[in-house]
Amino acid sequence: MVEWTDFERATIQDIFSKMDYEVVGPAALSRCLVVYPWTQRYFGNFGNLYNAAAIMGNPNVAKHGTIILHGLDRGVKNMDNMKEIYAELSVLHSEKLHVDPDNFKLLSDCLTIVVAAQLGKAFTGEVQAAFQKFMAVVVSSLGRQYH
Ligand code: HEM
Repeated sequence: MVEWTDFERATIQDIFSKMDYEVVGPAALSRCLVVYPWTQRYFGNFGNLYNAAAIMGNPNVAKHGTIILHGLDRGVKNMDNMKEIYAELSVLHSEKLHVDPDNFKLLSDCLTIVVAAQLGKAFTGEVQAAFQKFMAVVVSSLGRQYH
C-alpha cells in the first residue's frame, strides 16, 4: 500500500478542491492530443481532430477531459485504496479500449503542466513532488490490468 505524508494528503486535497474540472480536464486532454498525436487513434469517434485549433475547440474532447478529471477525483477521495478504485477502469482501458498504458503517463504529464501553469509560484518543488506521486499511483493503478 502507498504511504502518504500529511503534507502530500493535504496538498492533493487542496489542489483538486480548487480545480475547475471543466477547464483543467479539457486543457490537459487537448494538450495530450496535440503534442502526442498518436494518442488521437483512440478517439476516432470524436470528430474533427485535424489540428490544434480543432482539437481545442472540439466539444467531445472537452467533455471527455472533464470525465477524466472526475475519474481522478475518485482517487483523491480514496487515496488509501487507489488500486481497488481503479481496477475497473484498468480493465476497461486494457481489455475493451486497448489503450497502450504508456499513454497514461503522457496524459499525466500534460495534466501536471496545466496544473503547474495555473498554480504558478504555489507549485513549489514539494507540491510538484506530491502531485507527481499521486499521478504515478493513478498511472500504475490504471496499468495494473496489463501486468
Ligand atoms: C474512457 C478515465 C487516460 C482513452 C474513460 C472513462 C474514464 C477514464 C473515467 C469513462 C469510463 C466509462 O465510460 O465508464 C481515465 C483516467 C486517465 C485516462 C483517470 C488517466 C490517466 C486515458 C488515456 C487514453 C484514454 C491516456 C488514450 C490515450 C479512453 C477512451 C475512453 C476512455 C478512448 C472511451 C471514450 C468514449 O468513447 O467515450 N477514461 N482515462 N484514457 N478513456 Fe480514459
